[in-house]
Amino acid sequence: MTSIVERYHIPEQHFWLRGGRSGPPVEYDAGTGIWNVYGYPELHEVLGDPATFSSDVMRVIPKDLMPDSEDFSLAGFITQIDPPEHGKLRKLVSSAFTRKVVADLEPRIARLTHELLDAARERGRLELVADLAYPLPVTVIAELLGVPGGDRVLFKQWADAMFERDTKISLSRTAAEQQADARDALKAWKEMAGYLAAHAAERRRQPRADLLTRLVEAEVDGERLPDDQVVNFAIVLLLAGHVTTTMLLGNTVLCLDAFPEVQDRVRADRASVPAVIEESLRFLTPFAALSRSTTREVELGGVTVPADRLLMIWLGAANRDPRQFPDPDVFDPGRDPNPHLAFGRGIHFCLGAPLARLEGRVALNILLDRSDRLRTDPDDPVEFMPTPTMTGVRRLPLR
Ligand code: HEM
Repeated sequence: MTSIVERYHIPEQHFWLRGGRSGPPVEYDAGTGIWNVYGYPELHEVLGDPATFSSDVMRVIPKDLMPDSEDFSLAGFITQIDPPEHGKLRKLVSSAFTRKVVADLEPRIARLTHELLDAARERGRLELVADLAYPLPVTVIAELLGVPGGDRVLFKQWADAMFERDTKISLSRTAAEQQADARDALKAWKEMAGYLAAHAAERRRQPRADLLTRLVEAEVDGERLPDDQVVNFAIVLLLAGHVTTTMLLGNTVLCLDAFPEVQDRVRADRASVPAVIEESLRFLTPFAALSRSTTREVELGGVTVPADRLLMIWLGAANRDPRQFPDPDVFDPGRDPNPHLAFGRGIHFCLGAPLARLEGRVALNILLDRSDRLRTDPDDPVEFMPTPTMTGVRRLPLR
Protein backbone atom coordinates (compact mmCIF):
# COMPACT_ATOMS: atom_id res chain seq x y z
CA MET A 1 0.00 0.00 0.00
CA THR A 2 1.31 3.49 -0.85
CA SER A 3 1.93 5.41 2.35
CA ILE A 4 -0.03 8.59 2.89
CA VAL A 5 3.23 10.51 2.60
CA GLU A 6 3.66 9.54 -1.06
CA ARG A 7 -0.01 9.53 -1.86
CA TYR A 8 -0.62 13.11 -0.74
CA HIS A 9 2.90 14.46 -1.39
CA ILE A 10 3.40 15.41 2.24
CA PRO A 11 6.42 17.75 2.50
CA GLU A 12 9.58 16.29 3.98
CA GLN A 13 9.45 18.72 6.92
CA HIS A 14 6.92 16.31 8.43
CA PHE A 15 9.68 13.73 8.80
CA TRP A 16 8.02 11.84 11.65
CA LEU A 17 5.17 10.78 9.35
CA ARG A 18 7.54 8.65 7.33
CA GLY A 19 7.14 5.86 9.87
CA GLY A 20 9.57 3.38 11.33
CA ARG A 21 11.67 5.98 13.14
CA SER A 22 14.53 3.96 14.61
CA GLY A 23 16.79 6.68 16.07
CA PRO A 24 17.25 7.42 19.78
CA PRO A 25 14.31 8.89 21.72
CA VAL A 26 16.29 12.04 22.61
CA GLU A 27 18.77 13.61 20.21
CA TYR A 28 20.87 16.76 20.25
CA ASP A 29 20.96 18.62 16.94
CA ALA A 30 24.21 20.59 16.77
CA GLY A 31 23.00 22.35 13.63
CA THR A 32 20.05 23.95 15.39
CA GLY A 33 21.28 23.93 18.99
CA ILE A 34 18.09 22.14 20.07
CA TRP A 35 17.48 18.92 22.01
CA ASN A 36 14.76 16.95 20.22
CA VAL A 37 12.59 14.53 22.20
CA TYR A 38 10.77 11.92 20.12
CA GLY A 39 9.92 8.97 22.40
CA TYR A 40 6.55 8.46 24.08
CA PRO A 41 7.79 7.63 27.63
CA GLU A 42 10.29 10.50 27.42
CA LEU A 43 7.59 12.99 26.38
CA HIS A 44 5.34 11.69 29.12
CA GLU A 45 8.11 12.45 31.58
CA VAL A 46 8.79 15.93 30.21
CA LEU A 47 5.12 16.95 30.21
CA GLY A 48 4.63 15.60 33.73
CA ASP A 49 7.55 17.52 35.29
CA PRO A 50 7.12 21.27 34.78
CA ALA A 51 9.68 22.05 37.52
CA THR A 52 12.48 20.52 35.40
CA PHE A 53 11.00 21.21 31.96
CA SER A 54 9.81 24.80 32.06
CA SER A 55 7.30 26.26 29.59
CA ASP A 56 9.14 29.59 29.83
CA VAL A 57 11.38 29.07 26.81
CA MET A 58 12.18 32.74 26.34
CA ARG A 59 14.67 32.46 29.22
CA VAL A 60 16.99 30.27 27.11
CA ILE A 61 16.67 32.07 23.80
CA PRO A 62 19.52 34.60 23.38
CA LYS A 63 18.21 38.16 23.66
CA ASP A 64 19.67 39.18 20.30
CA LEU A 65 17.45 36.60 18.59
CA MET A 66 14.30 38.10 20.05
CA PRO A 67 12.23 40.76 18.32
CA ASP A 68 13.76 44.16 19.12
CA SER A 69 10.57 45.65 20.46
CA GLU A 70 9.98 47.18 23.85
CA ASP A 71 6.26 46.69 23.85
CA PHE A 72 6.40 42.93 23.31
CA SER A 73 4.96 41.24 26.39
CA LEU A 74 4.13 37.61 27.00
CA ALA A 75 2.13 38.39 30.17
CA GLY A 76 -0.92 36.15 30.18
CA PHE A 77 0.40 33.78 27.50
CA ILE A 78 -0.75 30.81 29.54
CA THR A 79 1.22 28.26 27.51
CA GLN A 80 4.51 29.97 28.47
CA ILE A 81 3.87 30.30 32.19
CA ASP A 82 5.09 27.98 34.96
CA PRO A 83 3.63 27.25 38.41
CA PRO A 84 2.58 28.85 40.66
CA GLU A 85 1.38 31.69 38.34
CA HIS A 86 0.13 29.17 35.79
CA GLY A 87 -2.34 27.53 38.19
CA LYS A 88 -3.89 30.84 39.10
CA LEU A 89 -4.35 31.97 35.52
CA ARG A 90 -5.71 28.59 34.50
CA LYS A 91 -8.24 28.59 37.34
CA LEU A 92 -9.38 32.03 36.34
CA VAL A 93 -9.90 31.04 32.78
CA SER A 94 -11.46 27.67 33.41
CA SER A 95 -14.03 29.43 35.58
CA ALA A 96 -15.06 31.28 32.40
CA PHE A 97 -14.57 28.44 29.90
CA THR A 98 -16.61 25.67 31.51
CA ARG A 99 -17.83 22.35 30.12
CA LYS A 100 -21.38 23.71 30.14
CA VAL A 101 -20.36 26.75 28.07
CA VAL A 102 -18.90 24.29 25.53
CA ALA A 103 -21.74 21.75 25.59
CA ASP A 104 -24.31 24.50 24.97
CA LEU A 105 -22.59 25.26 21.66
CA GLU A 106 -23.61 21.99 19.99
CA PRO A 107 -26.75 23.29 18.19
CA ARG A 108 -24.88 26.38 16.96
CA ILE A 109 -22.00 24.24 15.62
CA ALA A 110 -24.48 22.00 13.77
CA ARG A 111 -26.34 24.98 12.28
CA LEU A 112 -23.13 26.64 11.15
CA THR A 113 -21.85 23.41 9.58
CA HIS A 114 -25.06 23.08 7.56
CA GLU A 115 -24.97 26.74 6.47
CA LEU A 116 -21.34 26.45 5.33
CA LEU A 117 -22.02 23.23 3.43
CA ASP A 118 -25.17 24.75 1.83
CA ALA A 119 -23.08 27.69 0.62
CA ALA A 120 -20.47 25.33 -0.84
CA ARG A 121 -23.20 23.34 -2.60
CA GLU A 122 -24.47 26.53 -4.22
CA ARG A 123 -20.96 27.24 -5.46
CA GLY A 124 -20.87 23.70 -6.85
CA ARG A 125 -17.62 22.55 -5.22
CA LEU A 126 -16.24 21.69 -1.79
CA GLU A 127 -12.72 22.62 -0.80
CA LEU A 128 -12.97 21.34 2.72
CA VAL A 129 -10.49 23.71 4.38
CA ALA A 130 -11.72 27.02 2.92
CA ASP A 131 -15.39 26.01 2.93
CA LEU A 132 -15.70 24.30 6.32
CA ALA A 133 -12.60 23.38 8.33
CA TYR A 134 -11.40 27.00 8.58
CA PRO A 135 -14.62 29.02 8.90
CA LEU A 136 -16.37 26.66 11.34
CA PRO A 137 -13.95 26.73 14.31
CA VAL A 138 -12.91 30.35 13.78
CA THR A 139 -16.54 31.50 13.78
CA VAL A 140 -17.32 29.40 16.87
CA ILE A 141 -14.40 30.75 18.89
CA ALA A 142 -15.01 34.33 17.69
CA GLU A 143 -18.67 34.14 18.73
CA LEU A 144 -17.71 32.56 22.04
CA LEU A 145 -15.26 35.36 22.75
CA GLY A 146 -17.71 37.95 21.51
CA VAL A 147 -15.86 39.37 18.49
CA PRO A 148 -17.45 39.43 15.03
CA GLY A 149 -17.02 36.12 13.15
CA GLY A 150 -17.08 38.26 10.00
CA ASP A 151 -13.59 39.51 10.89
CA ARG A 152 -12.17 36.05 10.22
CA VAL A 153 -10.21 37.27 7.19
CA LEU A 154 -8.20 39.39 9.62
CA PHE A 155 -7.71 36.48 12.03
CA LYS A 156 -6.42 34.35 9.19
CA GLN A 157 -3.90 36.98 8.12
CA TRP A 158 -2.63 37.28 11.68
CA ALA A 159 -2.49 33.52 12.26
CA ASP A 160 -0.61 32.95 9.00
CA ALA A 161 1.94 35.66 9.85
CA MET A 162 2.54 34.06 13.24
CA PHE A 163 2.56 30.39 12.33
CA GLU A 164 3.37 29.68 8.70
CA ARG A 165 7.09 28.94 8.48
CA ASP A 166 8.63 26.39 6.20
CA THR A 167 12.01 26.53 7.88
CA LYS A 168 13.31 24.54 10.81
CA ILE A 169 13.33 26.33 14.13
CA SER A 170 16.99 26.90 14.83
CA LEU A 171 19.22 28.69 17.28
CA SER A 172 22.04 28.66 14.74
CA ARG A 173 20.48 31.09 12.26
CA THR A 174 21.84 34.61 12.36
CA ALA A 175 20.29 37.25 14.55
CA ALA A 176 19.29 39.18 11.43
CA GLU A 177 17.46 36.16 9.99
CA GLN A 178 15.70 35.44 13.26
CA GLN A 179 14.68 39.04 13.66
CA ALA A 180 13.33 39.19 10.14
CA ASP A 181 11.21 36.12 10.96
CA ALA A 182 10.03 37.67 14.19
CA ARG A 183 9.15 41.03 12.65
CA ASP A 184 6.12 39.80 10.68
CA ALA A 185 4.88 37.81 13.64
CA LEU A 186 5.28 40.78 15.94
CA LYS A 187 3.42 43.11 13.60
CA ALA A 188 0.53 40.64 13.43
CA TRP A 189 0.57 40.20 17.20
CA LYS A 190 0.39 43.96 17.76
CA GLU A 191 -2.52 44.38 15.37
CA MET A 192 -4.35 41.54 17.01
CA ALA A 193 -3.64 42.88 20.51
CA GLY A 194 -4.98 46.32 19.50
CA TYR A 195 -8.11 44.75 18.05
CA LEU A 196 -8.82 42.64 21.15
CA ALA A 197 -7.94 45.47 23.58
CA ALA A 198 -10.63 47.62 21.96
CA HIS A 199 -13.20 44.84 22.37
CA ALA A 200 -12.12 44.16 26.00
CA ALA A 201 -12.42 47.86 26.88
CA GLU A 202 -15.89 47.88 25.37
CA ARG A 203 -16.87 44.90 27.58
CA ARG A 204 -15.68 46.65 30.71
CA ARG A 205 -18.02 49.52 29.86
CA GLN A 206 -20.84 47.32 28.62
CA PRO A 207 -20.74 43.68 29.72
CA ARG A 208 -22.33 41.06 27.48
CA ALA A 209 -22.92 37.31 27.67
CA ASP A 210 -19.58 36.34 26.14
CA LEU A 211 -16.20 34.92 27.11
CA LEU A 212 -14.40 38.26 26.83
CA THR A 213 -16.80 39.72 29.43
CA ARG A 214 -16.22 36.69 31.66
CA LEU A 215 -12.46 37.19 31.28
CA VAL A 216 -12.56 40.87 32.21
CA GLU A 217 -14.86 40.12 35.17
CA ALA A 218 -13.46 36.77 36.42
CA GLU A 219 -11.91 36.86 39.90
CA VAL A 220 -9.72 34.47 41.84
CA ASP A 221 -8.93 35.37 45.48
CA GLY A 222 -10.46 38.78 44.85
CA GLU A 223 -8.10 39.57 41.95
CA ARG A 224 -8.96 40.35 38.36
CA LEU A 225 -6.73 39.88 35.32
CA PRO A 226 -4.78 42.98 34.30
CA ASP A 227 -5.65 44.36 30.85
CA ASP A 228 -2.55 43.06 29.03
CA GLN A 229 -3.21 39.57 30.36
CA VAL A 230 -6.85 39.63 29.23
CA VAL A 231 -5.70 40.64 25.75
CA ASN A 232 -2.92 38.05 25.54
CA PHE A 233 -5.19 35.36 26.84
CA ALA A 234 -7.82 36.27 24.26
CA ILE A 235 -5.11 36.03 21.57
CA VAL A 236 -4.20 32.52 22.76
CA LEU A 237 -7.87 31.48 22.70
CA LEU A 238 -8.58 33.00 19.32
CA LEU A 239 -5.50 31.40 17.72
CA ALA A 240 -5.46 28.08 19.59
CA GLY A 241 -9.21 27.90 19.19
CA HIS A 242 -9.18 27.61 15.46
CA VAL A 243 -5.82 26.87 13.84
CA THR A 244 -5.59 23.41 15.39
CA THR A 245 -9.24 22.46 14.97
CA THR A 246 -9.04 23.44 11.30
CA MET A 247 -6.20 20.93 11.01
CA LEU A 248 -8.15 18.29 12.94
CA LEU A 249 -11.18 18.51 10.62
CA GLY A 250 -9.10 18.44 7.43
CA ASN A 251 -6.86 15.64 8.67
CA THR A 252 -9.80 13.47 9.72
CA VAL A 253 -11.45 13.70 6.30
CA LEU A 254 -8.07 12.97 4.68
CA CYS A 255 -7.72 9.83 6.83
CA LEU A 256 -11.18 8.64 5.74
CA ASP A 257 -10.11 9.15 2.12
CA ALA A 258 -6.85 7.28 2.69
CA PHE A 259 -8.54 4.43 4.57
CA PRO A 260 -11.84 3.78 2.78
CA GLU A 261 -12.58 0.66 4.85
CA VAL A 262 -12.57 2.86 7.98
CA GLN A 263 -14.96 5.24 6.23
CA ASP A 264 -17.30 2.29 5.51
CA ARG A 265 -17.17 1.18 9.11
CA VAL A 266 -17.84 4.62 10.59
CA ARG A 267 -20.72 5.18 8.17
CA ALA A 268 -22.24 1.91 9.38
CA ASP A 269 -21.55 2.64 13.06
CA ARG A 270 -21.74 6.30 14.00
CA ALA A 271 -20.93 5.46 17.60
CA SER A 272 -17.34 5.13 16.40
CA VAL A 273 -17.08 8.80 15.28
CA PRO A 274 -15.34 9.90 18.53
CA ALA A 275 -12.81 7.05 18.17
CA VAL A 276 -12.07 8.15 14.58
CA ILE A 277 -11.44 11.69 15.85
CA GLU A 278 -9.05 10.39 18.54
CA GLU A 279 -7.15 8.24 16.05
CA SER A 280 -6.91 11.17 13.65
CA LEU A 281 -5.36 13.23 16.49
CA ARG A 282 -2.80 10.47 17.05
CA PHE A 283 -2.12 9.68 13.41
CA LEU A 284 -1.82 13.26 12.13
CA THR A 285 -1.09 15.24 15.29
CA PRO A 286 -1.98 18.91 14.56
CA PHE A 287 0.50 20.57 16.96
CA ALA A 288 3.36 18.24 16.04
CA ALA A 289 5.81 19.82 18.49
CA LEU A 290 5.94 21.96 21.62
CA SER A 291 8.93 23.59 23.26
CA ARG A 292 10.28 23.47 26.80
CA SER A 293 13.50 24.54 28.55
CA THR A 294 15.49 22.62 31.14
CA THR A 295 15.86 24.28 34.55
CA ARG A 296 18.60 21.81 35.65
CA GLU A 297 20.81 19.08 34.22
CA VAL A 298 18.63 16.02 33.69
CA GLU A 299 18.86 12.41 32.47
CA LEU A 300 16.32 11.78 29.74
CA GLY A 301 16.05 8.77 27.46
CA GLY A 302 19.59 7.64 28.27
CA VAL A 303 21.31 10.99 27.65
CA THR A 304 22.23 13.92 29.87
CA VAL A 305 20.62 17.21 28.90
CA PRO A 306 22.39 20.21 30.47
CA ALA A 307 20.51 22.97 32.31
CA ASP A 308 19.01 25.93 30.40
CA ARG A 309 18.67 24.18 27.04
CA LEU A 310 15.84 24.43 24.54
CA LEU A 311 13.89 21.23 23.89
CA MET A 312 11.50 20.51 21.04
CA ILE A 313 9.15 17.78 22.15
CA TRP A 314 7.63 16.02 19.16
CA LEU A 315 4.09 15.00 20.08
CA GLY A 316 3.63 13.72 16.53
CA ALA A 317 6.61 11.38 16.80
CA ALA A 318 5.65 10.16 20.29
CA ASN A 319 2.17 9.39 18.98
CA ARG A 320 3.84 6.97 16.57
CA ASP A 321 6.23 5.38 19.06
CA PRO A 322 5.89 1.58 18.57
CA ARG A 323 6.74 1.09 22.27
CA GLN A 324 3.34 2.62 23.05
CA PHE A 325 1.28 2.11 19.87
CA PRO A 326 1.62 -1.24 18.07
CA ASP A 327 1.71 -0.79 14.26
CA PRO A 328 1.80 2.98 14.71
CA ASP A 329 1.55 3.74 10.99
CA VAL A 330 -1.80 1.97 10.72
CA PHE A 331 -4.89 4.18 11.13
CA ASP A 332 -6.90 2.12 13.58
CA PRO A 333 -9.79 3.78 15.45
CA GLY A 334 -10.18 0.49 17.36
CA ARG A 335 -7.23 1.38 19.64
CA ASP A 336 -8.66 1.24 23.12
CA PRO A 337 -7.33 3.01 25.07
CA ASN A 338 -5.74 5.54 22.75
CA PRO A 339 -3.54 7.59 25.11
CA HIS A 340 -2.23 9.96 22.42
CA LEU A 341 -0.55 13.19 23.46
CA ALA A 342 -2.12 15.45 20.82
CA PHE A 343 -3.66 17.69 23.51
CA GLY A 344 -0.52 17.56 25.65
CA ARG A 345 -0.52 16.23 29.19
CA GLY A 346 -0.29 17.52 32.74
CA ILE A 347 -0.83 21.07 33.92
CA HIS A 348 -0.96 22.58 30.41
CA PHE A 349 -3.35 19.96 29.00
CA CYS A 350 -5.40 21.66 26.30
CA LEU A 351 -8.19 23.77 27.76
CA GLY A 352 -10.07 23.60 24.48
CA ALA A 353 -10.02 19.81 24.06
CA PRO A 354 -13.76 19.41 24.83
CA LEU A 355 -14.60 22.10 22.25
CA ALA A 356 -12.28 20.63 19.58
CA ARG A 357 -13.74 17.16 20.15
CA LEU A 358 -17.30 18.50 19.97
CA GLU A 359 -16.63 20.39 16.72
CA GLY A 360 -14.95 17.31 15.26
CA ARG A 361 -17.83 15.00 16.18
CA VAL A 362 -20.63 17.33 15.01
CA ALA A 363 -18.92 18.28 11.72
CA LEU A 364 -17.91 14.72 10.84
CA ASN A 365 -21.40 13.36 11.49
CA ILE A 366 -22.94 16.03 9.27
CA LEU A 367 -20.38 15.45 6.52
CA LEU A 368 -21.18 11.73 6.60
CA ASP A 369 -24.95 12.44 6.59
CA ARG A 370 -24.68 14.73 3.59
CA SER A 371 -22.39 12.61 1.39
CA ASP A 372 -22.32 9.08 0.00
CA ARG A 373 -18.56 9.13 0.03
CA LEU A 374 -15.89 11.59 1.23
CA ARG A 375 -13.25 11.40 -1.50
CA THR A 376 -10.36 13.59 -2.61
CA ASP A 377 -10.12 14.67 -6.23
CA PRO A 378 -7.15 13.05 -8.04
CA ASP A 379 -7.06 15.98 -10.51
CA ASP A 380 -6.87 18.61 -7.79
CA PRO A 381 -4.12 17.81 -5.30
CA VAL A 382 -4.21 18.08 -1.56
CA GLU A 383 -1.81 20.65 -0.08
CA PHE A 384 -0.12 20.32 3.27
CA MET A 385 1.05 23.15 5.53
CA PRO A 386 4.82 23.57 5.19
CA THR A 387 5.44 24.39 8.87
CA PRO A 388 7.33 21.44 10.41
CA THR A 389 5.69 21.81 13.81
CA MET A 390 2.15 21.87 12.44
CA THR A 391 0.59 18.96 10.65
CA GLY A 392 -2.44 19.78 8.64
CA VAL A 393 -3.89 20.06 5.18
CA ARG A 394 -4.30 23.62 4.04
CA ARG A 395 -6.22 22.71 0.87
CA LEU A 396 -8.45 19.66 0.52
CA PRO A 397 -10.65 19.63 -2.59
CA LEU A 398 -13.31 16.93 -2.44
CA ARG A 399 -15.32 15.38 -5.22
C1 HEM B 1 -3.01 23.93 25.19
C2 HEM B 1 -3.45 21.13 21.26
C3 HEM B 1 -7.83 23.06 20.37
C4 HEM B 1 -7.02 26.31 23.83
C5 HEM B 1 -2.79 22.97 24.23
C6 HEM B 1 -1.66 22.06 24.22
C7 HEM B 1 -1.78 21.31 23.10
C8 HEM B 1 -2.99 21.70 22.42
C9 HEM B 1 -0.81 20.24 22.62
C10 HEM B 1 -0.56 21.98 25.29
C11 HEM B 1 0.49 23.07 25.14
C12 HEM B 1 1.66 22.87 26.06
O1 HEM B 1 1.71 21.94 26.87
O2 HEM B 1 2.63 23.66 25.93
C13 HEM B 1 -4.69 21.42 20.69
C14 HEM B 1 -5.24 20.69 19.57
C15 HEM B 1 -6.48 21.21 19.33
C16 HEM B 1 -6.69 22.29 20.29
C17 HEM B 1 -4.55 19.56 18.83
C18 HEM B 1 -7.52 20.87 18.28
C19 HEM B 1 -7.56 19.75 17.65
C20 HEM B 1 -8.00 24.09 21.23
C21 HEM B 1 -9.16 24.94 21.30
C22 HEM B 1 -8.91 25.88 22.27
C23 HEM B 1 -7.61 25.59 22.83
C24 HEM B 1 -10.41 24.77 20.44
C25 HEM B 1 -9.73 27.02 22.76
C26 HEM B 1 -10.90 27.31 22.48
C27 HEM B 1 -5.87 25.92 24.49
C28 HEM B 1 -5.31 26.66 25.61
C29 HEM B 1 -4.15 25.96 26.01
C30 HEM B 1 -4.03 24.83 25.11
C31 HEM B 1 -5.88 27.91 26.25
C32 HEM B 1 -3.19 26.34 27.13
C33 HEM B 1 -3.48 25.58 28.39
C34 HEM B 1 -2.42 25.83 29.47
O3 HEM B 1 -1.32 26.27 29.17
O4 HEM B 1 -2.74 25.56 30.64
N1 HEM B 1 -3.60 22.71 23.14
N2 HEM B 1 -5.58 22.37 21.09
N3 HEM B 1 -7.09 24.51 22.17
N4 HEM B 1 -5.09 24.84 24.22
FE1 HEM B 1 -5.39 23.55 22.73
